Amino acid sequence: MTTECTSVSTTGLTEAVVDSFEGTPDPRLRELLGSLTRHLHAFVRETEPTMAEWERTIDFLTATGQTCTDTRQEFVLLSDVLGVSMLVETINGDRGDGDATESTVLGPFHMTESPARALGADLDLVGSGEPCVVSGRVLSRDGTPLPGAVLDVWQANAEGYYDVQQPEVQPAGNGRGLFTADGEGRFWFRTCVPSPYPIPTDGPVGDLLRATARESYRPAHIHFIVSAEGHVPVTTHIFVEGSDHLDSDAVFAVKKSLVQDFTETDDPVLAREFGIPNPFRHARFDLVLKPLDTNTLDSEGP
Ligand code: BEZ
Ligand code: FE
Repeated sequence: MTTECTSVSTTGLTEAVVDSFEGTPDPRLRELLGSLTRHLHAFVRETEPTMAEWERTIDFLTATGQTCTDTRQEFVLLSDVLGVSMLVETINGDRGDGDATESTVLGPFHMTESPARALGADLDLVGSGEPCVVSGRVLSRDGTPLPGAVLDVWQANAEGYYDVQQPEVQPAGNGRGLFTADGEGRFWFRTCVPSPYPIPTDGPVGDLLRATARESYRPAHIHFIVSAEGHVPVTTHIFVEGSDHLDSDAVFAVKKSLVQDFTETDDPVLAREFGIPNPFRHARFDLVLKPLDTNTLDSEGP
């Protein structure tokens, strides 16, 4: 087959596929499929994959799906390392919201319900890491405290593994807690100082990182989903100031405003309250939610 013949046979192909979606009743689905078709076809025209390369692509996507289980989400990981999760999260999470807490990626390890815990509880069920206290307030954008706000918190242990990655080693729920802020919007809990860790590299996404000589590490962080009545929930992390990989996160999820000091603190009274040796590390920060009507007001303009 000559090149000329190939180009003649694909003339109008893109528009034919786009047109095939014309009858889609949902206008948004029609728009998404039309745009996907145009971008995919443009990619193929530009890069001209060989049949072997296309088969390898299909094999890669097949393996990605086959690697997913109840406790592992390889497609989320793929979206993360391609920067797509961060793009979607940012487009949806941050619309000129001023001083509201910025969002970042959910990641693949929020796959299990966090156990409800009392304020002050310890997330480090096996006491394996350097103890620290995390505390602050959940506020509305105008500074009003949000009593009863719910904080879903999860983190890897001091060695950099989530409970679901080590079911034989860590008790279920290690590093996880669902907290309810007190009457003044305050929260506080104990945990271990998180460490940087590599994202899972024993699957197809790991193959991709190795083939492209890319870093697999994430900087030390704690995940939060914070929600309160009348407010837009935020999915975010708090990163540990000074952690390695803050400038080279494998999933591009660091935002400067989310980096917090885990300050060495000399406070024997608080240490006794939390049952940890003094001095100890203490991360203090507020989490700020935007009211539910903000998006409407922003999009309506003055
Ligand atoms: C995480 O922080 O849990 C994570 C996020 C994206 C990819 C892998 C892990
Ligand atoms: Fe994480």
